[in-house]
Amino acid sequence: MKIRSIKQKKQWRGQRVFLRVDFNVPIVRGRISEDYRIAASLPTIKYLQERGAKIIIASHFGDPKGQEVSLSTRILARRLQKLTSQKVKFVAAVSGDKVSTAVNNLCDGELLFLENLRFHPDEKKNSLSFAKDLSRFADIYVNDAFSVCHRAQASVSALSRLLPAFAGLQLEAEIHNLQKILKPKKPLVVVMGGAKISTKAPIIKKLYPLASQIILGGGLANTFWHYQGLEVGRSLHDDKVTKIVAPFFKKKKLLSKIILPVDVVVKTLSGQSLRRGLNDIKKSDCIFDVGPDSIALFSSYLKKAQTIVWNGPLGKFEENSYRHGTMAVAAVIASCSTGRAFGLVGGGETVAALKMTKMESYVDWVSTAGGAMLSYLGGEKMPGLKNIIL
Ligand code: 3PG
Repeated sequence: MKIRSIKQKKQWRGQRVFLRVDFNVPIVRGRISEDYRIAASLPTIKYLQERGAKIIIASHFGDPKGQEVSLSTRILARRLQKLTSQKVKFVAAVSGDKVSTAVNNLCDGELLFLENLRFHPDEKKNSLSFAKDLSRFADIYVNDAFSVCHRAQASVSALSRLLPAFAGLQLEAEIHNLQKILKPKKPLVVVMGGAKISTKAPIIKKLYPLASQIILGGGLANTFWHYQGLEVGRSLHDDKVTKIVAPFFKKKKLLSKIILPVDVVVKTLSGQSLRRGLNDIKKSDCIFDVGPDSIALFSSYLKKAQTIVWNGPLGKFEENSYRHGTMAVAAVIASCSTGRAFGLVGGGETVAALKMTKMESYVDWVSTAGGAMLSYLGGEKMPGLKNIIL
């Protein structure tokens, strides 16, 4: 897939650029707990600034459902100011006179941050008239928000039809690296965890022919076991996905690539954490992690891989007693990456887990995306990419 990158445009000086970023970062007790999405857009901002563009930055932040609540992007503008060590102007609006005045006062290379796009109910409706309001104060549209490109929303989709549209450097790099998964050096090993099998099904289907193994953990593994008639106790599983799981069991060849855990760690009714074999799970148990034999099995495949992609934790890693499986697999993936294999990790929780190992810098590509990464690898149409694909 070839995209129209900002590197292909020569003239930026004095141009008013609407830069769509995804600074939808986690907040804990009123503070930004993780700013890697903001840091990821710094190269694009620097690139445009050095070439004299007037940069109007806009993001969504959480889901205020069109109501002006406490999710102001002012906190994001402040963090950007800290990271760039430069003045970032802020206007508490997304369109209208206030924005026009602020844009008219911008000098070449200056940065202006707009209010939360989702304060406006028409953003999520992909409204053309709202997109027209946004387009009035810009000459060029740059999308550096790969992680929201799966959403048909006004600043992602409709606006890209109204102005000359380009991809920012972060978006371009996301596509470049994700394409290495779709055209992998083999063996490709896919590691999938997390809760909802329905959101992971298209990617399992798409990567199945390319992969040597698809390792499943978390709610995905429970769902397979539940379908097989194994006891999963009170563990998270999705019993509405028979249609997705059934074909794997019908064809032995299909199932052979699916690697499920061989032992688990459960939380018992009395709150104890115990290792169990697959046939020993009690009705009152909750499966919260994979066991040591599973870690050894998964590692044996990962060590032979040339390409690795990981999305979704393998257990309830937020709790000390249930993080070993996820941590161990994260460490193996990190140590196999950079040189030995191409390693790509994505998804908010997955990246949080990887960071707990302090080995994230070993992984070749840590995606800023979760849902968008699944959509892209699953071969779904992405509204945010439509007008920047060549
Ligand atoms: C994300 O955090 O995955 C993106 O910012 C998209 O956010 P959304 O799921 O609220 O659309």
